[in-house]
Amino acid sequence: MKLIELFAGIGTQRKAFEEVFEQCETIAISEIDSRPLKIYQHLFNTCPNLGDITKIQSLPKADVWTYSFPCTDLSIAGNKQGFMGKNSSLIYEVLRLLKNSPKPQILIMENVSNLVSSKFITGFNQWISLLEEEGYNTFWLKMKASDYGGISIRNRVFAISILNNKSYVFPKKEMSQTVVKDILLPPTAECFVDNYEYIEYPYNYKNSIKICDYNNGGQGNRIYSINGKAITLTATGGGKGGSSGLYLRKEGLYKLSGIEMARVMGWNLDDAIKMSQVATNRELGFCLGNGIDLTVFTKIIQELKNQSLI
Ligand SMILES: C[S@@+](CC[C@H](N)C(=O)[O-])C[C@H]1O[C@@H](n2cnc3c(N)ncnc32)[C@H](O)[C@@H]1O
Repeated sequence: MKLIELFAGIGTQRKAFEEVFEQCETIAISEIDSRPLKIYQHLFNTCPNLGDITKIQSLPKADVWTYSFPCTDLSIAGNKQGFMGKNSSLIYEVLRLLKNSPKPQILIMENVSNLVSSKFITGFNQWISLLEEEGYNTFWLKMKASDYGGISIRNRVFAISILNNKSYVFPKKEMSQTVVKDILLPPTAECFVDNYEYIEYPYNYKNSIKICDYNNGGQGNRIYSINGKAITLTATGGGKGGSSGLYLRKEGLYKLSGIEMARVMGWNLDDAIKMSQVATNRELGFCLGNGIDLTVFTKIIQELKNQSLI
């Protein structure tokens, strides 16, 4: 199995493929940001980076390309210029490369759920038509991580495009009983935000539990119970909670550490610790907030294998 990761980030795609396929070789990636790249290199020891996608002429033969392209022009928090925006228009580089390279059997995309909102669905459907002209059938679904075994309520769109008139069926929903308190490590001074009276909330593995706003509220200034699911990590989270938001612990009010944020995104403890060896909490918040939920992505890849599509 040969994989190419475009817009690779920290390599969530590669990690998922390596979990599912014994034989998996990542033959090339494209990424320009040194923050995810140093984490990628440390996690996998190899980083076959071709750099800026706009400068790549063609790609070598591979079975799968992943292209979780920048969401900055599509997300609710962004400037909403859509597929014509400076960053999100990089999706068309994938089309250019498809025309100039041996076509992979499968293309996989992940992006913000706003991609299929009334504002952007026409552009997304046009993208699907462009892929159809190249021979691909596309299947997409909005998936909330907690519905598929994840710890957070992150809601994202996943699209699988396949050559040769083949179909793909997404994994079935399956919740896990894990909540935030299950992945917490002993609290650290760096993540401490304020003293706060502890209140125990009933355990709820189906959703996050909002307690109240902190100060003036707003993103990153909302307090959640550790007895529920985690809220969605954001790359550039504002407020006292930064990327993770705020959680009420017995010891006071805390944001999540980099290791805890990696756990929220489905990474095992060993990998989460490894990431923290080369990146600060803030950098990890940025990279993981930009990233893909590993639990969900692994299930999607497992289905490709189960359905003998690779
Ligand atoms: C949504 S993030 C992908 C994160 C990745 N899926 C993960 O799990 O870590 C998009 C990535 O595209 C990268 N990017 C932006 N412009 C690029 C370009 N011209 N060439 C290659 N990568 C680019 C960004 O640095 C960012 O890491």
